[in-house]
Parts: sequence; C-alpha cells; structure tokens
Amino acid sequence: QRSAQQLIRPQLPAELTQRDGCPFDPSKGLTELSGRGRIHKIEHNGDTVWLVTGHDEARAVLAAPQMSSDRINSPRARALISPELHAELFPPERQAGSFIFMDAPEHTRFRRLLTGQFTVRRMRDLTPRIHEIVTDRLDAMIEKGPPADLVHDFALPVPSLVICELLGVDYGDRDEFQRRTAKLLSLNTTIDEQIKNTVELRRFMRGLVDAKRRSPGDDLLSGLVRDTDLTDDELTGIANLLLIAGHETTANMLALGTFALLEHPDQFAKLRDDPDLVENAVEELLRYLSIISMGVSRHAKEDVEIGGTTIRAGETVVVSVPAVNRDDSQYEDPHALLVDRPRGHHVAFGHGIHQCLGQQLARVEMAVGFTELVKKFPALKLAVPAGEVPLRTDMSIYGVHSLPVTW
Ligand code: HEM
Repeated sequence: QRSAQQLIRPQLPAELTQRDGCPFDPSKGLTELSGRGRIHKIEHNGDTVWLVTGHDEARAVLAAPQMSSDRINSPRARALISPELHAELFPPERQAGSFIFMDAPEHTRFRRLLTGQFTVRRMRDLTPRIHEIVTDRLDAMIEKGPPADLVHDFALPVPSLVICELLGVDYGDRDEFQRRTAKLLSLNTTIDEQIKNTVELRRFMRGLVDAKRRSPGDDLLSGLVRDTDLTDDELTGIANLLLIAGHETTANMLALGTFALLEHPDQFAKLRDDPDLVENAVEELLRYLSIISMGVSRHAKEDVEIGGTTIRAGETVVVSVPAVNRDDSQYEDPHALLVDRPRGHHVAFGHGIHQCLGQQLARVEMAVGFTELVKKFPALKLAVPAGEVPLRTDMSIYGVHSLPVTW
C-alpha cells in the first residue's frame, strides 16, 4: 500500500532524492544527473516525471501560469486514487483554505488577504519577541549545562513559540500540533493514519477559530476573523497551513544549519567573529541545505515549453530544490558552504506566486537564532561523531531528528 505522501507526491528513485554521501549534499545520482542536463524525464514506479535541475528552467516552471499547484486534483492524483478514496481523503471542507494547492485567481484572493496580515508592522513588532524567545531558550540550555539536544532545546521550540504567538495558539498545546505535524510530513504514514491525523489536526484548529470568533485578540488569526469574510472552514485551513509551514521548516533550518556550521569550523568562526555576516550566512545556508529535499511539484494544465523542452498537458514536473541551488551556471564552486558568498537567487523559498509567504519571518528567526547561538556558545561542538547524527531521510522536509551538542 502506498503511503499518504506518495499519493500526492510524484515518485522519484531514492538515488535521486536520498542524501547518500555528505549529509548536506544532494545525492551522488542527482549531482551526476545535473551534470548531464537541466531537465530530465524520469520514469519510476509507474510515474513519469520531468525533473528540473537547472536554475533558469526552475524559475520558468514556477512562474508559468500554465503550471498548476493543485496536487490533490492533478491528473496523476485522480488516476492513482479511486473517486471513493479521493472523496474520503479530500472532502471539500478539508481542502478549504489550503491555498498552497490553489491556482490563480482563487489563490490570489487568499494570498492578498494573508499579505494584508503579514504586515511590516506585525513582523517588526515580533522581532524583539523573537529575540527574547531565542535568548530564553539558549539561557535555559546554559543553565541546564551540557550536553543538550539542540533540536529539542532550541531549534524546534523557537519557531513553534513564534508561530504560536503570531497565530494566537496556546504553546501548551505544542505536543498536540508538533506530534501531528511530524506524522503529516512522514513519508511512512499510511492513508488511514493520515485521514485520522488530518481530521484531528483540523478539529484542533477549528476549536481555535471558534475561540477567536468568541473573543478576538491581537493575533493574526483574530485579524483574519475580524477583517475578512473567510468561512470557518477556510480559516481552519489557513491556520493549519501556517502552523505546519511555520514551525517544521524553520526548525530544520536552525538544526541542520547548526550541524553544517559545526562541520565547517572555519565558517562557524567567520560568523562568530563577524556578526554582520549573518544575513548573508542565512541565505547561504538556505541555498546550501535546501531542506525542501523532495522538491516542489507542479503539473501542466496545457502544453508549455520550458528551456526548449515541451511539457505536455497533464504531465508532472518536479523542481529539484537541492539540484537547482547547486547549479554551477549560477554559483561558483556551488558545493562549498561560504557564509560570505555574495547573495544569489536561490529557490529555497520557491519562486512565483507561491513563493514562501513566511520568508521574512523565517529570515528574522534564523538571523537572530544563529547570531545568538554563536555568541553564547562560541565553543559549541557535536557531542557524538557526525555519522551518528540521525538524519530526516524519512520525512518530506529534510533535517536532523536530534543534534547532540556540548560546549
Ligand atoms: C510556501 C519554504 C518558512 C508559510 C513555501 C514554498 C517553499 C517554502 C519552497 C513554496 C511551495 C510551492 O511553491 O509549492 C520554506 C522554508 C522555510 C519556510 C525553507 C524556512 C526556512 C515558512 C514560515 C511560514 C511559511 C515561517 C509561516 C509563517 C508558507 C506558506 C506557503 C509557503 C503559507 C504557501 C504560499 C502560497 O502558496 O502562496 N515555503 N518556508 N513558510 N510557506 Fe514557507
């Protein structure tokens, strides 16, 4: 039986998606493939997928209006999932508000409403709180003394606390949503487990929307309740998406980013000795690590030409974020981590209309996080051999399950 993720995620051979050498590099197979061309037809497990490894071609795919993000109703998903199972997995009320799967103009409506809430003022007001959250976590680590698991003590709580604050979720409920998110993103969760999990996550979020309707606060969800005519199902979907997208991604960047810096002590030292480098370092880590390891997928609604290749209506395209971010036509020495590398146009946050809504927030969290970490722990090191750090090869967002450190 396929796992739930496999239903909406095009299948690629493990040798192209699993990091099999250095934990920060794309697989050897993927690097080899990138060397042979920029867009590749891959057939695997009954799926035919166009895999994009070139930078310009990736941006063209992600900007093309002929490309759809509706992975739930794609020809591929419709062919794989019986109508009965489709209705059970994705009833309309469970799709409401999930604008990451929508195309224009439906997507445009949600994106506008959300952009209105992700205001410069709200992000600016949040920055001192992010500072406080980061330093509180690090001070607690110091107080407890070495060793520590950086994921448990720092990388996961920081973005979880921030997104809770932004959305107005009680941080006391974190076990509930962290556990369910982990299940949602696991590549091994079965379809039945996923249905149960999604229903329960939605129920939790629906309770929150109801609470904001009764007594709105100053948070983003209350703002949406107050200022828009979104339905409760739509608000639930939006809150769900923000909560999931808002903590797992940034958590993995913080943890895997720290691991990468520890494995490149010269780069760690550069950042520690020159804190002004941090914004550059964040962009470089986003590029170098490409935690959206499985890539970003689309299907063509009509025939479209990308870099001289015709993609036919109905065909699936996967933009390989790890390969694209190491494209040697864009970056000199692409496989090197250089925190002072001049900023380029990586696709770690995607590109086009779906480009990450939370990117400014994520950047602030990472900039504050890495700055304070190297300042407070100038002698940080791994507490186990690097080969023993458990990698998230079983999850759709790459990173580490834990990062034992000492100082
Ligand atoms: C979309 C990556 C942090 C909310 C995306 C996409 C990528 C991405 C690649 C595009 C998906 C596509 O084109 O199908 C990341 C990374 C992050 C991060 C690497 C951390 C380092 C965040 C945060 C939030 C967030 C903190 C929320 C506060 C979203 C949302 C979308 C999105 C709502 C969908 C946007 C749309 O469809 O219009 N993200 N993200 N992300 N991200 Fe992020």
